[in-house]
Amino acid sequence: MGMRCVNDFRLRFGKRELVPIVCGGMGVDISTAELALEVARLGGVGHISDAMVPTVSDRRFRTRFVKEKAKLYKYNVANTDKSAVQFNLERLAEATHMHVGRTMEAKRGDGMIFVNCMEKLTMNAPRETLRVRLTAALDAGIDGITLSAGLHLGSFAQIEDHPRFRDAKLGIIVSSLRALQLFLRKNARLDRLPDYIVVEGPLAGGHLGFAADDWDKHDLRTIFTEIARYLQAEGLAIPLIPAGGIFTGSDAVSYLENGAAAVQVATRFTVTKECGLPADVKQEYFRAAESEVVVNMISPTGYPMRMLAGSPAIGAGIRPNCEAYGYLLDSSGNCAYITAYNREVASHPADTKISVMDKTCLCTHMRNFDCWTCGHYVYRLKDTSRLLPDGSYLILSAEHVFRDYQYSVDHKVALPA
Ligand SMILES: Cc1cc2nc3c(=O)[nH]c(=O)nc-3n(C[C@H](O)[C@H](O)[C@H](O)COP(=O)(O)O)c2cc1C
Repeated sequence: MGMRCVNDFRLRFGKRELVPIVCGGMGVDISTAELALEVARLGGVGHISDAMVPTVSDRRFRTRFVKEKAKLYKYNVANTDKSAVQFNLERLAEATHMHVGRTMEAKRGDGMIFVNCMEKLTMNAPRETLRVRLTAALDAGIDGITLSAGLHLGSFAQIEDHPRFRDAKLGIIVSSLRALQLFLRKNARLDRLPDYIVVEGPLAGGHLGFAADDWDKHDLRTIFTEIARYLQAEGLAIPLIPAGGIFTGSDAVSYLENGAAAVQVATRFTVTKECGLPADVKQEYFRAAESEVVVNMISPTGYPMRMLAGSPAIGAGIRPNCEAYGYLLDSSGNCAYITAYNREVASHPADTKISVMDKTCLCTHMRNFDCWTCGHYVYRLKDTSRLLPDGSYLILSAEHVFRDYQYSVDHKVALPA
């Protein structure tokens, strides 16, 4: 048998066959519609994300959702109690419908487009807002929903009455067998298994599903094998999609040969022209050294997050922006950043500018692309492109990266022409 490449495998959903490459969701419009559409055109699965979808819609369609909310709650800006700052559910549905619907209308080719839905965006009313987000995405024709950052214990039930509940693809992201077992137990009564399970290991970008002090004691291969064995023992044929640190086509093949249905990748797509990061931030990703990649606890979600040490979000001390955003407010209107910010203000009463080291205003900084979250292998991106005479790296196309995953062998990475 010769050396196999990713293209020798197919991801099967019923009768549909796809190239087994999933581009993972990258929050607050880093995985843009443009990127997802390109991946779908090439026959894979692309993700958009519904994180902060009103602000994404404002940028994409010149709507005014954020202005409207900020204006409505302007009176509360100086108030440390944010419980009054609620999302208008109709507006949230509208924004989701626009972002998802316009993307689906533009879809070409044989691939699929899913939306990444982070449960930890509790939005001051976790159940109601999540239900609206899921329902609006289904209404707008999304091919599938990937539930991330959370335990998803009640999420399927939120949409069990939706006409598309059994036809849309529904998947979950887990980082342990235990989390999966909990999910399956809690959802048993729905008689509706996930259509796929993304198994995300500790080298991924974004939030990590591990504890702060033990993420580095886990590895994707072990968790993947454990979950694959469990499903086999239970007679459950659910496609498994490993994610986190799969950097080359050969990395992908080694999982596909061991029973993976597809792979989910993200970091390699951050330096493509379709990716939503600003051009100068893409260069930061290219230039990153291994020593600059950190995992810290500054996300108010309580999950560890991986990012570049030079991220402007680290140590910033801006006033919480919950009247405009407020995506991380829990059901009682609290966010760990507000607490940290108030503490710093109280202990430096004379300072006009403060710094908050332990938490960050993630809404604002993700919105402004100032939190440079990345997968562990971000420092290898420089080996995937060419250095130009002006000292910058050549931005890739999503097609180039996709095809490289699809056809490369022998751990090679194709450089752009
Ligand atoms: C910039 C960036 C942003 C991300 N944002 C999210 C997100 O919003 N939600 C999520 O579930 N995963 C997020 N991820 C994780 C990816 O979807 C993916 O599972 C993971 O990064 C794959 O590993 P790789 O980057 O090493 O290929 C993000 C990853 C990156 C690099």
